[in-house]
Amino acid sequence: MNFTKPILFAAIFLIIACQTNKKQTHSTESIKFSADQVLDLNVIKTKSTLEKLSSYDSLPRNIDKGEKGWNFVGVKDWCSGFWPGVVWYAYETSGDVYLKEQAEKFTNTIKPIAYTSADNHDIGFMVYCSYGNGYRITGNESYKEIMLAAADTLATLYNPKVGSILSWPSQVHKFRHNTIVDNMMNLELLFWAAKNGENKELYTIAKNHAAVTMKYLIREDNSMFHVGSFNEETGEFLQGYTHQGYANESMWARGQTWGIYGFSIAYRETEAQEFLDTAIKLAEHYIKRLPEDGIPFWDFDDPKIPNSPRDASAAAVAACGMLELSGLVKDPILKEKYYNAALSYIKELSSNNYLSGDTNQALLLHSTGHYPNNSEVDVPIIYADYYYMEALVRLKKLQGLE
Ligand code: GLY
Repeated sequence: MNFTKPILFAAIFLIIACQTNKKQTHSTESIKFSADQVLDLNVIKTKSTLEKLSSYDSLPRNIDKGEKGWNFVGVKDWCSGFWPGVVWYAYETSGDVYLKEQAEKFTNTIKPIAYTSADNHDIGFMVYCSYGNGYRITGNESYKEIMLAAADTLATLYNPKVGSILSWPSQVHKFRHNTIVDNMMNLELLFWAAKNGENKELYTIAKNHAAVTMKYLIREDNSMFHVGSFNEETGEFLQGYTHQGYANESMWARGQTWGIYGFSIAYRETEAQEFLDTAIKLAEHYIKRLPEDGIPFWDFDDPKIPNSPRDASAAAVAACGMLELSGLVKDPILKEKYYNAALSYIKELSSNNYLSGDTNQALLLHSTGHYPNNSEVDVPIIYADYYYMEALVRLKKLQGLE
């Protein structure tokens, strides 16, 4: 299909823009926003993009400033699983069989990751976002075997002397045994595999990893280090660093959101109260420091704020994390608080401030990947689209219950 539905597109865009320009309040009832309407628009756009892509081995990653089309990466890039995941969410919400076929084809591309020795912790992002969504939605048994293999591959990076996964084998010269906050997101694959396969040790690995991250990567003020450096023989914590943030002690926005979401999942899977308490502390600190519109600057401590780029991807991850957390806490006040926080981020992302419309092939504008390297600054990035779609699909299900 050619992207020739400008009237529908403009109408939906107008509805969203009007809704999101209303003053926000903290009352659920007063916030009118239909995830379904935005998803309809995003499905149209995803189909349009799919029809322009030429190879299942080339996976969208980012779009250069002023350009319309995606730049692509191969299967070994850490972002390879996000595009198949976007297409799975588009299928899940629409039931369109064309999207299912496309999701399957892009997902098949990821298979070698499960059977190639582990280069990094990103196996979880690559395989759980692609095969994981495919299995969740379709129950395709052949996916299960690949996911179990991927979990075993990821677990080869576990160091029992430290009690955590070595996130970046390529960076041991700089950080020795390193465990990064992003790695919290890759525990879900291990928890899933422990439940669905024979290797029950994966549960212990994931739980230990979360416990080590909690103990050493969270600072007194409840902001997080990006990278923890450890003695690989004794397990001693050496120092916290940043890699993609402004400074070692600063609060890198996406890192904090990986923590909120990651510890929420760790609690969901283990029922260890300390993980829930941690997710709440990280969420409270994040909410307290957010700018008024709910979309963080790329690092909360960049001295150039407010003349500094935002990170829509962090807002999308935060929305997913807050929805997860809202479903886990017992206190009704906190439940509503985190739900409304997620809703406000999703609404802002769906406004004309962040939604790409016909600007380019992405769903969202204004993400920041690696500012200190001047890489992917204030551009569309595929994982922003992925977590935005996840947040919308989750919200749609919740709105269906209201
Ligand atoms: N390495 C994952 C991220 O950039 O958040």
